[in-house]
Amino acid sequence: MNDFRKKVSAPAALPAHPAPTGAYPRVRMRRNRRAGWIRDLVREHQLAPTDLIWPAFVVEGTKVRQPVPSMPGVDRLSIDLLVEEAARAKHLGIPAIAVFPQVDDKLKTPDAGEALNPDNLVCRAVRALKKAHPDLGVICDVALDPFNRDGHDGLVRGGVILNDETIEVLCRQAVVQAEAGCDIAAPSDMMDGRIGAVRDALDAAGFTDVNVLAYAAKYASAFYGPFRDAVGSSGKLKGDKKTYQMDPANSDEALREVALDIAEGADMVMVKPGLPYLDVLWRVKEKFAMPTFVYNVSGEYAMLKAAGANGWIDAERAMMETLTAFKRAGADAILTYHALEAAGLMAGRKG
Ligand code: PBG
Repeated sequence: MNDFRKKVSAPAALPAHPAPTGAYPRVRMRRNRRAGWIRDLVREHQLAPTDLIWPAFVVEGTKVRQPVPSMPGVDRLSIDLLVEEAARAKHLGIPAIAVFPQVDDKLKTPDAGEALNPDNLVCRAVRALKKAHPDLGVICDVALDPFNRDGHDGLVRGGVILNDETIEVLCRQAVVQAEAGCDIAAPSDMMDGRIGAVRDALDAAGFTDVNVLAYAAKYASAFYGPFRDAVGSSGKLKGDKKTYQMDPANSDEALREVALDIAEGADMVMVKPGLPYLDVLWRVKEKFAMPTFVYNVSGEYAMLKAAGANGWIDAERAMMETLTAFKRAGADAILTYHALEAAGLMAGRKG
């Protein structure tokens, strides 16, 4: 009846195939893009949950879950809940977690003494995590900012951030964390010479197997704002961190920083922040061929979530695109607050 074929009459003669005049492309890039299966075959970089490190915020208490206002979807967790969530991370294939404490204001002192307390919040969190999940890597920040009142990563005297005196404290901090079971010490303070000193201190204390992840090229960035809210140091920071963190305008300098940290014994190096510094990441990976990590920092996370919440971008796609871009630029691992969400998405796709 309604036979549509009848309505389509065949052309009397097929038009001659266009002669290869050069008017049309012979090399057609779109051939390799024409369907999902072929895009899968030619894809150069593949993001996996095993690329991700989950940075988590820990607070005192039990059953405490405090949303961080500037980081929708990120909560500060008490140790019990952190351990629960870590099980989920592990189950999703995330190899490691980085622990950041929100230290009680009462415990903050100019000498950051609480950083050396073997029973401080970080150490208790590390112990609980390692006990519950021995196979999940635990990374600790080595820096003083959660433990003092001025928000600086080092000791401060007369407004000056002291380099060598700070290193002495950092070394002891790293050993205390290692004693608690930390697998990777990650100095994020940007003092000169701290990588070698921390390496020596760990070795001298018998922790020759604890890795050192150097925040090697860490910039004085506006993108750390939400993190400072999360650990409760934002209202406190006096001045800025420009005398120790790097100038965003420089990248040759990043190569010198990385070279020094490698010479001092870093096992892996990091570039931070991530998205605004993909060029630095690329240069570092190209030049040193070291395990190179990138930190997709709090402000990057907040921007993406804010635009998503407004309906201005597709936040899920933007997240996966962002994380894939880090892989393309040379990252071996990505510290990201998207870790659980992204790994969950990848698991869902497979299943
Ligand atoms: C401090 C530290 C910071 C971050 C990690 N460790 C903030 C700073 O340097 O002020 C930033 C992480 C983020 O923004 O997600 N030692």
